[in-house]
Amino acid sequence: MHDANSAQHQNRPPLLRDDFGRPRANPTLHEVLQRGLSQQQKDHLFLFKCNLMGTWTNELGSNMTISSVNSVGIFSGVYTTAVSATNNTIVPSPLTGHVQKSDSPTLGFTVSWAFSASTTSWAGQCYQDPEGRKILATMWLLREEAEDSWKGTRVGQDVFFHV
Ligand code: BTN
Repeated sequence: MHDANSAQHQNRPPLLRDDFGRPRANPTLHEVLQRGLSQQQKDHLFLFKCNLMGTWTNELGSNMTISSVNSVGIFSGVYTTAVSATNNTIVPSPLTGHVQKSDSPTLGFTVSWAFSASTTSWAGQCYQDPEGRKILATMWLLREEAEDSWKGTRVGQDVFFHV
């Protein structure tokens, strides 16, 4: 006998549980592959693991909003930095990046600053912290136009929280 409201009755996959019996939202990649889903279905699930979509803020108070992530992991959005090495008025700038298809994916993205001649690229990884918050732990390189190459590069770390 099945409960009329059970997941099986409603044609939904059964509730996933972790090693301690707690409900778990996302299937592991192994579970996805075992179910024999189509590539399109796997791509859809990928968006629900570390879904980059939405707004992220970092330790400087900068914000980035990712508005699209396609099926091969190319994403785009807008970055508004809280700080600048220039005296120019800060305006939102376009960003594009790539994210891998794994549970805790590595990613990279670049901002071509709309108010300065510089470019910054970040590389990092999406994690869930012990409080369950999604974070992007990254390192960045900023290149500014400089007559001498050695002068032109800054390096640092940013940690982004999903808001
Ligand atoms: C510039 O000053 O020419 C452009 C703005 C650079 C802002 C940097 S990029 C790395 C770091 N992380 C941020 O969110 N802002 C700074």
